[in-house]
Amino acid sequence: METNKNIIILGIESSCDDTSAAIICNDLILSNEVSGQSVHEAYGGVVPELASRAHQQNIIPVVDLAIKKAGISMDEISAVAFARGPGLLGSLLVGTSFAKGFALAKQIPLIEVNHLHGHVLAHFIKDPNIELKSPEFPFLCLLVSGGNSQIIIVRDHLELEVIGQTIDDAAGEAFDKCAKVMGLPYPGGPLIDKLAKTGNASAYLFSKPKIPGLDYSFSGLKTSFLYFIRDRIAENPHFIEENKADICASLQDTIIKVLMSKLIKAAKETGIRTIAVAGGVSANSGLREALIEAATLRHWKMHIPPFKYTTDNAAMIAITGYYKYLKGEFAGHNVVPYSRVSIR
Ligand code: KG4
Repeated sequence: METNKNIIILGIESSCDDTSAAIICNDLILSNEVSGQSVHEAYGGVVPELASRAHQQNIIPVVDLAIKKAGISMDEISAVAFARGPGLLGSLLVGTSFAKGFALAKQIPLIEVNHLHGHVLAHFIKDPNIELKSPEFPFLCLLVSGGNSQIIIVRDHLELEVIGQTIDDAAGEAFDKCAKVMGLPYPGGPLIDKLAKTGNASAYLFSKPKIPGLDYSFSGLKTSFLYFIRDRIAENPHFIEENKADICASLQDTIIKVLMSKLIKAAKETGIRTIAVAGGVSANSGLREALIEAATLRHWKMHIPPFKYTTDNAAMIAITGYYKYLKGEFAGHNVVPYSRVSIR
């Protein structure tokens, strides 16, 4: 559906523990509200039932604020796009039900968006406050989040092909689970990143997976890390406290080397030199440095999104909804969320 009029999309994201709503006018972001859930802090991880209850409390105020901040009226919204999955089913149900109700009440189209597709298309959000150049097609996207680690060829906004992915844990899970072993609070990724800054990355050596092709694996690293910590603590009960920065730096360095080796292989095999990164782990400062270094050395055009569009947000759902709107890809009201699914 090609059209000259402005298309205004309300985006809804509720796949895990962030309730987010955004308004986009064509590809220009007008508002992007995110409400986190502190209720999980006491449990060392996201508790699905608590997450869905918190989404129910947050969704209306968050949508209301997004519409107000965008300076539009509800009647101007052309369509509502929502994250259908992957994610926590109870959480997704809240966003899906809200989107259906809104679309029905306003008699506007409903657009289902794959959460992972949203992470990739975050690169196409135009933000008046941030100068950001979108990648040219085709490009390779390293998608690294709490639930996924994938290498994707992006040929067009709606044409994506996964050429490598984790066969077990995701990179974010490796950060979070190893952080838990060290007694750090959830989510551990940002804390490991912070502590790693003052540590020696060569202090400890962790084994790297030997997986063929472009796939990843992080479960072996998690297990070897667990045994490493257990054995060292047996020798010295204060081992973690005394060596925290070095442990974090060495662990982070291992995860980054694993991620980078397959990305470099993918770039060589496909001949694609425009590279993008997406997902929560792309906030990692060590990974960003490694990407920039590789880009300089290998003459890649590197695209790293601003921090606020790397973690879960509805702006990425709204931009994906916009491109699906242009192609007339609408969902029926019998659409249901899914907890597990590939990108396309
Ligand atoms: O994309 P995201 O917000 O949610 C998912 O869709 O999974 O990613 C969350 C993940 C968590 O595992 C978190 O620990 C990780 O991203 N993360 C980081 C950093 N910031 C967030 N990992 C390493 N370094 C960071 N700075």
